[in-house]
Amino acid sequence: MCGIVGYLGSKKTLQVLLDGLRRLEYRGYDSAGISIGARGKEIKNIKSVGKIAALAQAIGNQEIDGDFGIAHTRWATHGGVTEKNAHPHHDCKKNIFLAHNGIIENYRELRAKLLEEGHKFYSETDTEVLAHLIEKFFSGNLENAVISALKLVKGSYGLAVIAKDDPEKIVVAKNSSPILIGMGNDEYLVASDASAILDHTKEVVYLNDGEIAVITLQGVEFTNLANQKLDKKKEVLEWNISEAQKGGYPHFMIKEIFEQADSIKNSLAGRLMVKEGNAKLGGIENIAEKLRDIDRLIITGCGTAYLAGLVGEFMLEEYAGIPVEVEMASELRYRKPVLDKNTALLCISQSGETIDTLVALREAKMKGLPTMGVVNVVGSTIARETEAGIYNHIGPEVSVASTKAFTSQLTILSLLTLFLGRQRQMSLVTGQRIAKELNALPKLIQKVLEQEPEIKKLAKKYYKSNNFLFIGRKYNYPVALEGALKLKEISYMNAQGCAAGETKHGPIAMIDKDFPTFAIAPKDSVYEKMISNIEEIKARGGSILAIATQGDKEIAKITKDVIYIPKTLEMLTPILSVIPLQIFAYHCAALRGYDVDKPRNLAKSVTVE
Ligand code: F6R
Repeated sequence: MCGIVGYLGSKKTLQVLLDGLRRLEYRGYDSAGISIGARGKEIKNIKSVGKIAALAQAIGNQEIDGDFGIAHTRWATHGGVTEKNAHPHHDCKKNIFLAHNGIIENYRELRAKLLEEGHKFYSETDTEVLAHLIEKFFSGNLENAVISALKLVKGSYGLAVIAKDDPEKIVVAKNSSPILIGMGNDEYLVASDASAILDHTKEVVYLNDGEIAVITLQGVEFTNLANQKLDKKKEVLEWNISEAQKGGYPHFMIKEIFEQADSIKNSLAGRLMVKEGNAKLGGIENIAEKLRDIDRLIITGCGTAYLAGLVGEFMLEEYAGIPVEVEMASELRYRKPVLDKNTALLCISQSGETIDTLVALREAKMKGLPTMGVVNVVGSTIARETEAGIYNHIGPEVSVASTKAFTSQLTILSLLTLFLGRQRQMSLVTGQRIAKELNALPKLIQKVLEQEPEIKKLAKKYYKSNNFLFIGRKYNYPVALEGALKLKEISYMNAQGCAAGETKHGPIAMIDKDFPTFAIAPKDSVYEKMISNIEEIKARGGSILAIATQGDKEIAKITKDVIYIPKTLEMLTPILSVIPLQIFAYHCAALRGYDVDKPRNLAKSVTVE
């Protein structure tokens, strides 16, 4: 995701900021920029597309050092990967400069109003509105202007702001996007992530939501949006740089699993219309009319993305009434599927670069189909070549095993179901119910994550097994496939996913006391059937681990190894039920001593055939 660094002190500001940006490179980014000021001088602002090395080259021998500055690495969300869209952003007068992580949900309304008031915009970003909004309220004191502006803002932000006309000061603010202040000896640093500042200090103060820090050479004052002074305590970090990059977690995979409450919030931000029972999907507005007329949708992708598509099929058929086919891109590209003008293609890809998905997309385009993407990496090839699309907005996924991308893909498919359903047969009441349940998901995900210690205990009990079966029905059948994929790809255990009703047509022959089964059995429309399937496996001596709905006492009578997930709408259960499987796979692989983030023989993005 994006990264922020800020500095106020007597060291060479440019060098501290560039070093800090380099420390944030691991997060992934597509462009970078730096703004440096000195009392009585214009603020110098240099940005560039590509790596920090390209930024350093753009700076070259220019004299841009000063007394205070901010810098940013951008991972595009709103607007393409261009120098103009890179941060820091500025106002009309080039007085205010800011670096922002997060998403301003109401930026369209704010931008329209600011345009009416005469502000001139130069970028396509949501962030630029913040610079103009602060400009509107600025009359010499930066923190007052920032507070007034943020009162009008809806969305998430980690924010660092400087102003030429209120120099030697950095104003920092937070809402749902992490930011901290490094407290050095007569110097202060700002960072979205501790790894950027550990070379200078280990003493930090983390801002909470709604808090502001005003940094000057005299010290740091903490307030809130109501301008009340706060007394905040320093913490001393014990991390080294590599631990800090993983947020203190031992691997990126577990860090990314734990990010899921926030990543789902980001995927939903600005899109969910609870009152209207609908979704606002700006990226597919251009083909909204064509989508109204389609009578068939083909979803394609590979691996985890393909499995997300299978869940999408069930959602879209049940709630939007559109016939859906899901096909692995590696198969679709070599077949001759029957395509007519009322069929649309949806490609799902985290990286946006998977060659099989890309070739399937090109085939469909050649045949004149409307095409859409659900892609995480902005500006990637699939994102560029699809006619329309919805970004995940979850930041980079570093670990090879896909986790937060899968739950986000399911979330986006739920939003698409709302949108296409409301274009068709879905009633307002049904739309509102789905939207309400989607809105509640981040809190429910948090509850699932809190059970990590219990899941780890299960991993300790089972990680030496050589085989594992995963079963589920209906919405949780693809989850069973995903649970098996996760386990096999990082722990190298033989894991098979199977539709629970199919077990007795073959796979049950493998079951004995050394062949455990993970059964995904939430209280849904197929619960009773799942219980029968579990009983069948038990009767053959197989041990069962179950994922069940909170409060289900019946299942605990059949097996002691139960992980509970909160109740939600049946179509949304996969977003919760897959998380224990991700955690289980992670701990099995870690206990077996494997390199969890880089499993053998696999690559994060499969761009070659
Ligand atoms: C599994 C995994 C892969 C990817 C697949 C598609 O954990 O990561 O199965 O899901 O290679 O990749 P993208 O989504 O980048 O097209």
